[in-house]
Amino acid sequence: MIGRGDNAGKQCGEDMRQLIAGNWKMNGLGATAMAELGALAKHVETTRPACDVLICPSATLIERAARHAKDRFAVGGQDCHAEASGAFTGDVSAEMLRDAGATAVIVGHSERRQFHGETDAIVQAKARAAWRAGLISIICIGETEPQRDAGHAHGVCRSQIEGSVPPGATPQNTAIAYEPVWAIGTGRTPTSPEIAAMHAHIRAGLGAPLRILYGGSVKPSNAKEILALPDVGGALVGGASLKASDFIQIVDACNRSP
Ligand code: 13P
Repeated sequence: MIGRGDNAGKQCGEDMRQLIAGNWKMNGLGATAMAELGALAKHVETTRPACDVLICPSATLIERAARHAKDRFAVGGQDCHAEASGAFTGDVSAEMLRDAGATAVIVGHSERRQFHGETDAIVQAKARAAWRAGLISIICIGETEPQRDAGHAHGVCRSQIEGSVPPGATPQNTAIAYEPVWAIGTGRTPTSPEIAAMHAHIRAGLGAPLRILYGGSVKPSNAKEILALPDVGGALVGGASLKASDFIQIVDACNRSP
């Protein structure tokens, strides 16, 4: 499993540790990044939080971050190519991420779908690639604001699950991240009943009891309420994961012990 392996043998759902994951996106240079990770590592070591902790920095920082983590938190990639190697200039394979020390990779983030034209089929191929390399895939789904306004949010997410999650997904190899596109980086979030309803809807569409993370403007002030909702198996945090002092508060808001 992600993290220290404390939850080895645990089943998913209410019994499983929540996962608090940081997606650093295209942010972070070595010296300052390692200082933030040092503060996070120290906090994890001293408080032993009730959740798994994962940081997904840029590919250039994975090896340094993994060395720094010393198993106090896990390190993941933000994307991978579907092939193991080949003539794909600029791309990074799941095997390369693994080789650098990653144990997980985010696939199908809305910024990849939007700016790199990634379809559900491509996302599914990347999730399979992650498994091939022994990585946990964190498969992102989420509706845009016009889709929500038109009343299509649940249908869009169901269809993304059907297209993006390969058969064979298990709690050991896959987590889902529900990230409404309109909530990313905006400071806006769905209401708690809306998050709970969407997570229940996603849960009903999955063939296995996967962790379902919520992502989109998670911050210290709203983390506790979001993480207490049923079917919320953790959080995928963007902006608030860049500063250890903020991210630590989200880790500490995690309230579901094994
Ligand atoms: P923010 O937390 O900055 O809204 O980003 C969410 C996200 O995209 C995480 O993958």
